[in-house]
Amino acid sequence: MANVVIVGTQWGDEGKGKVVDLYAQSADVIARFQGGNNAGHTLVVGGKQTILHLIPSGILHAGKLCIIGNGVVVDPSVLIEEMNTLRNRGLLPDSTRLLVSEKAHIIMPYHRRIDVARESHGVGKKIGTTGRGIGPAYEDKIARVGIRLCDLLDDVVFREKLSRNIEEKNFYLTKLFAEEPLDEKAIYEEYRTYAEALRPYAADCSLIMQREIDKGKRILFEGAQGNHLDIDHGTFPYVTSSNTVAANACCGTGVGPSSVQSVVGICKAYTTRVGEGPFLTELKDETGARLQQVGQEFGATTGRKRRCGWLDMVLIRQAIRVSGITGIALTKLDVLTGIEKLKICTGYRMDQEEFTESVPANLRILNCCRPLYEELDGWSEDIRGAKQIEDLPANTRRYIERLEALAGVGMVLVSVGPDRDETIILNDPFAG
Ligand code: IMP
Repeated sequence: MANVVIVGTQWGDEGKGKVVDLYAQSADVIARFQGGNNAGHTLVVGGKQTILHLIPSGILHAGKLCIIGNGVVVDPSVLIEEMNTLRNRGLLPDSTRLLVSEKAHIIMPYHRRIDVARESHGVGKKIGTTGRGIGPAYEDKIARVGIRLCDLLDDVVFREKLSRNIEEKNFYLTKLFAEEPLDEKAIYEEYRTYAEALRPYAADCSLIMQREIDKGKRILFEGAQGNHLDIDHGTFPYVTSSNTVAANACCGTGVGPSSVQSVVGICKAYTTRVGEGPFLTELKDETGARLQQVGQEFGATTGRKRRCGWLDMVLIRQAIRVSGITGIALTKLDVLTGIEKLKICTGYRMDQEEFTESVPANLRILNCCRPLYEELDGWSEDIRGAKQIEDLPANTRRYIERLEALAGVGMVLVSVGPDRDETIILNDPFAG
């Protein structure tokens, strides 16, 4: 029996929500290990659409334990709002189904203010962040001045840490950005109420997860964003501020690497990106607009239109290597239906040099590269009813086979439509 990590292989928005939801049925514990409310899964709960940004989507399945690990940055107002929504629908009866690591860092109002101020004042490069304070919260963690959930729950520690932070952040906001200072007392009062709401959910999640593993329970580690938004391995600086690669499932929850046996990489049948940054296979033509429209490519958190382009196997190969991906879940294949000729990028070229396994780290080099394409015939048949690979048109199967050959890793599932049953299951990652 295996514990499974799910990560995105591209720049996020690969359709992880559907796959996590599917695998959550087989898991006992679902844990988030990085990111914060910059992520977003759109779910249908009791006929009503809900977007969850922090709580693992496994919460919708009865009897599962959901964990927000120490590697996640938690905006308490967002978490409490999500908890209230779920509670009102009878999905969060008590604190036995959702636990938050006492070591998780808390997003404070100054993190959001600094995030937005930097992007709008043109200090440094515009990243196109979600404006949720994610980067500044991780900065404080690394600078060892961040406030963790256990600090928020201790009035003496919280007062002292808040005071020190406000002094420094007000200096930064007023002197560099000429912004209004933050009101320490108001923030203290606001966050005291959050502390009381979150107290029953705070826990030593590393210990709890180990006990579950010892009992033979199955853990699903739910990654957010994608491998190429990773702070170390992504297209820096156009990345998020956490490690999105699979190894962080361990650091971000406090579980040892020997407890992970399978890594599923979610790969959308084409590529999208939200925000700024290099995107070699981007299509700024009708085909790009078509992918955006048919694929409903809008950010779940900010509502921004996602940039769209051809499948890029350099991205996928690097993600497979860095995350140790053991199986690919191919998503949104139906969005390609009706496109006469499909392209797959197999490498990048700059002058005489070719890059096929890794994205060049130096963006000046990357921006001088051009994509090398293979062209395949598309298909026009509706594939949404396919239940097994044999039901797919020959050209669709060829596209999948070519992707597998270029990746060097097999498929665990192929998603041919948004609904749960519009999925071809090929392998069970929990089987190990
Ligand atoms: P931040 O995570 O808000 O700091 O944003 C940094 C970059 O990551 C921006 O380009 C965002 O658009 C991108 N980003 C952050 N979260 C997601 C996500 O869940 N999906 C896709 N892009 C994301």
